[in-house]
Amino acid sequence: MTIQTISTKPFSDQKPGTSGLRKQVPVFQNPHYLENFVQSIFDSLEGIQGQTLVLGGDGRYYNRQAIQIILKMAAANGFGRVLVGQGGILSTPAVSCIIRKYQAYGGIVLSASHNPGGPEGDFGVKYNIGNGGPAPEKVTEAIFDRSKVIDAYKMLDVSDVDLDRIGATQLGSMKVEVIDPVTDYAALMESLFDFDQIQQLLTSGKFRICIDSMHAVTGPYAKAIFERRLNAPAGTVINGVPLENFGGGHPDPNLVYAHDLVDRLFGEEAPDFGAASDGDGDRNMILGRNFFVTPSDSLAILAANAKLAPGYRSGIAGVARSMPTSQAVDRVAAQLGVDCYETPTGWKFFGNLLDAGKATLCGEESFGTGSNHVREKDGLWAILFWLNILAAKQQSVEEIVKEHWRTYGRNYYSRHDYEGVETAGANQLMENLRAALPSLSGKQLGQYKVKYADDFSYTDPVDGSVSQKQGIRIGFTDGSRIVFRLSGTGTKGATLRVYLESYEPDSAKHDLDTQQSLAPLIQLAEELAKICELTGRDKPTVIT
Ligand code: G1P
Ligand code: ZN
Repeated sequence: MTIQTISTKPFSDQKPGTSGLRKQVPVFQNPHYLENFVQSIFDSLEGIQGQTLVLGGDGRYYNRQAIQIILKMAAANGFGRVLVGQGGILSTPAVSCIIRKYQAYGGIVLSASHNPGGPEGDFGVKYNIGNGGPAPEKVTEAIFDRSKVIDAYKMLDVSDVDLDRIGATQLGSMKVEVIDPVTDYAALMESLFDFDQIQQLLTSGKFRICIDSMHAVTGPYAKAIFERRLNAPAGTVINGVPLENFGGGHPDPNLVYAHDLVDRLFGEEAPDFGAASDGDGDRNMILGRNFFVTPSDSLAILAANAKLAPGYRSGIAGVARSMPTSQAVDRVAAQLGVDCYETPTGWKFFGNLLDAGKATLCGEESFGTGSNHVREKDGLWAILFWLNILAAKQQSVEEIVKEHWRTYGRNYYSRHDYEGVETAGANQLMENLRAALPSLSGKQLGQYKVKYADDFSYTDPVDGSVSQKQGIRIGFTDGSRIVFRLSGTGTKGATLRVYLESYEPDSAKHDLDTQQSLAPLIQLAEELAKICELTGRDKPTVIT
């Protein structure tokens, strides 16, 4: 067993995006590509000798191969112990939970989240720090800087580890512990929610649920928690076996891609509650019978009802949402008398707020909700939180949402994505908007008067770090907003995201169609950004 030092040359494109480094599988399979990035991570960290690393992924194609490579590199770089999920499986929130529970130095998550998998699909590598959360920008920048000059990586010359057998093996002077991926996470969930109350609801015969794991990582977690621990009937979890290509699907829990679930919840004899999670288990979509809960509303409703769950009984210290997320939760925070933080897109910006105890609940419009229980968003956590609220209130999903709107008003909200457009056109569109910002302030645009127009910049209230150019915001005097930004997670061309929001206090107007009620803003977004001309698209690829 010798430590080999292998010469390499830098790749110029290893800049981590919104959520780690994401590329198509063939890119990661290029000789040295994965190794360079992993060594750049290790080189950027201080004092890893003898430390513990957590390692796992969402089971997508190339997961197992990548894990073997990383284990041998971790051993050669001096880690003392690696905790790896059985079969190489760990959901993103489970990695966060395990890093925290065992006070690991950090963790590596192998996933491209909701992006499709398979030999031609996507793969990704994300480094999480000791608080269990995604590495902040200063760490990801150091990794990128290192990747630009790297000339060698270290690897232990040793045979593969059996990832399927629970237990410990030795890799040189490093111990590899293959652990059950579910146990620690399930115990954490049980400590936060009233499992007895939820179990009563699920076994009452009067309330049926359907949980769609989309052939991705949450299958084993959902079966263990809902079917075995909470006694929901067998078959409650659908698409529950993780597959390397997610069954050919797009493991993104939204109305377009979670069609198996949507068909059931909007079909005949629909269940009372439905939910889906994404590839790596950090996203969630919540449905009632014939009813869709927007992620922004979901965050607001969890905040308003947090005290119904034992883990949050003493109340929440504050909330945080990404800038493009609707302002529904702001109203709840105001009512509760707690702070509401507006951060750039990406979970990494919530880490400091959670660590400092400034925020308890966080969320993003992109089907992400979470709390201070871990430092990632958490799909099954959100589903259990909803079930706890439903069990406590004994109302339907629709009743709970509509009651919320009556109390706080309704934020009509939608995101329009133009996926895989030409990068040049997308950049031009953003540049044009940026250039137009100074002239927009105070201007009347149709029925709307511009209150502010800027390129969002965020100063972290804890460490003072500044993140600029985080999206173009145009806010109007009636509380409506249009936000434009380019995706930082795509792997092909550019993806333009347009976020639209309007506020309706009048409960007589809470049953309008979302796209119709946003139509004037949609029209205005087109006029301001010339989307059709610059992207060549006359309609979005995905509307959520
Ligand atoms: C997208 C979402 C963002 C989320 C990220 C990772 O990033 O919009 O909210 O944090 O995926 O799940 P984007 O592609 O917009 O940069
Ligand atoms: Zn994800």
